[in-house]
Amino acid sequence: AGMVVPEESDHLPPAQRAAVVAKSLALTEVMQQASHFYREHLRASSKAVDYLKGRGLTGEIAARFGVGYALDEWEGLRQVFPDYTAPVLVEAGLVIDRSAEGSGGRQRYDRFRDRIMFPIRNNKGQVIGFGGRVLDVGEPKYLNSPETPLFQKGNELYGLFEARQAIREAGYVLVTEGYMDVVALAQLGMPHAVATLGTACTPVHVQQLLRQTDHVVFSFDGDAAGRRAAGRALEACLPYATDTRTVQFLFLPAEHDPDSFVRQQGQASFEREISEALPLSQFLLKIACEACDLNTAEGRARAQFNAKALLQAMPSSALRLQVVRALAQATQSTAAEIETLCALSKPVARVRQAPARVARAAPVGLERQIMRLLLAQPGLAQGLEPGIQQMLCSMDPDQDGMLAILLDASRSLGTSASFAMLAELVQEKSEEFQTLVAEVSAEPPIEPELAQAELAGAVRQLQLKAIKDEMNTLAASGMTQPNALTRYRELTQLQEQLRQEGLASQDWP
Ligand code: UTP
Ligand code: MN
Repeated sequence: AGMVVPEESDHLPPAQRAAVVAKSLALTEVMQQASHFYREHLRASSKAVDYLKGRGLTGEIAARFGVGYALDEWEGLRQVFPDYTAPVLVEAGLVIDRSAEGSGGRQRYDRFRDRIMFPIRNNKGQVIGFGGRVLDVGEPKYLNSPETPLFQKGNELYGLFEARQAIREAGYVLVTEGYMDVVALAQLGMPHAVATLGTACTPVHVQQLLRQTDHVVFSFDGDAAGRRAAGRALEACLPYATDTRTVQFLFLPAEHDPDSFVRQQGQASFEREISEALPLSQFLLKIACEACDLNTAEGRARAQFNAKALLQAMPSSALRLQVVRALAQATQSTAAEIETLCALSKPVARVRQAPARVARAAPVGLERQIMRLLLAQPGLAQGLEPGIQQMLCSMDPDQDGMLAILLDASRSLGTSASFAMLAELVQEKSEEFQTLVAEVSAEPPIEPELAQAELAGAVRQLQLKAIKDEMNTLAASGMTQPNALTRYRELTQLQEQLRQEGLASQDWP
C-alpha cells in the first residue's frame, strides 16, 4: 500500500532511542563481564563447588546454566571494574550506592557477596539479571537483581533460554517456583523446566511460554502459598486458554518442591504426577466451587458467582463452553443460564435456546428481508418514497409480485395498520405469504427505529446492486452506445452518494 513499516513500536525520537540503545548495550556489557567473573570464581572456590556437588550438580550442568560464585568481599567487583564508581554498575544492580542517604560507613559495595550466582538470561541469551543463593543458612536465602532497564521480574522466566530446545522435544514446558528446581531437574534428565523469579506468574510470562509450546504444566507446592500462586497463574492463563492449548496444574505434597520430589520418588513417579496434573478447566471449577456447599441453593449460587470473573476472562471457545456445561451441571442450571448470569461475551450455548436480536436468522436475500420488515412494521411502507416503492415493485420478479402485494395491502390499511391486520390480509393471497407470516411471528419483536434503519439499509443495498448491475452491463458492452459514458459517470456518482448515506447512517441510535 506504499506505507512505511515502522521499525520500532515505541515512539521515541531517534536521538532518545539511540540513548536507550546505548544504555542497554552498556548494561548488557557490564552484566556479561560480571557473569564471566562470577563463573571464574566458582572454579576457584572449593566451598562453592562443594555446595553444588552436595546438591547433586555436576560441573557440566553448572556450566550449562553459567552458575557462578560471588566472593565474600565488599568490593569484589573492583577486580573486573577498575572504575568502581561508574554509575552503570549501580544501574545494573551489581553495586549498591548509599551515598545519597548521607549515613556514615560504607557507601558503595557489591550487592552479591558470598553467594552462588544464577545468571538470568533473556531470549537472546544475554545475561540481564542474577539470582544469588546463600551457601548455607542466611537471609534472604535468594537475593535477586533489582528491576533495571534490562530486567523486569514479571517479564522473565529463569531457564527459558536454556530450555527452549528441550521444551520442543518434550512437547511441553514445566513451570516451577525455584532456580534450584530448574537446575536440578535439568541434572536429573528433565531439561524442559523454567521458573518464575520469586513472583506470581504474569500474563507476560504466559505469553512467553506459549511462544514456545501449546502445552504448559505448572507445578506448585501443596501448601497455602502454593495454592495462592496457582490461583494467580490460572488468572494469568485464562485469556489465552483456547481450544488448541493445554494448561495443567500440578500440586505436589506440601513438603516437596520438584527438586526434592524427583530426588526422593524418582523421575518416573514425577512424570506420572505431571501426566495426571489438573487441567485448567477442572482447576477453574475447583476454585469456583471451593468452600461452596453444592447441596444448597446458596452454595450453588455462590459457586456461580465465584466463576463469573474467571469465565469472563476466557475467550469464547469450545473450551469455555465445556467449563460452562460442567458448572451448569454442578449447580443445577443450564449452560445458557450460566452464560447469561455471568454475562459472557459471545455466548455459545444461548444462541439456540433464545436467539438474541443480533442472532436473528439471516433472511434469504434482500427482498425477503425487506418483506419481513414491511410485514412486521406495516407503518414503514408509508414512509417509503414513491420512487423507492416503484423500484421495489419493479425489481420483484423472483418474488411472484409479493413485494407489490405487500406494499399495496399496507397502503390500503392506512397508518394504523398492525402486523396482525396485515398478516391476515396477505395470508389469504398465497401459501408463500403464510410462510412469511410464520417466519416473522417466530422472530423476537423488533424496535420500530431499528426496523426502519434496517429497511433503509436493505433498500440502499438493493439500489447499489441495481447500479452495479447496470454498470457491469455498460462495461460489458464496451461503452459503445451513445451516452454510455455519461450514464456510467452518473451511476458512479449515484453509487458514491448511496455509500455516503450508508456511512452516515451507521451512527448508533
Ligand atoms: P524456595 O525457598 O522454595 O527455594 O524459594 P528453592 O527454590 O527450593 O531453593 P533451594 O532448593 O532451597 O535452594 C523458591 C523461589 O522463591 C524465590 C526464588 O526465586 C526461589 O527459587 N525466593 C525464595 C526469593 O527470591 N528469595 C528468597 O529469599 C527465597
Ligand atoms: Mn528446593
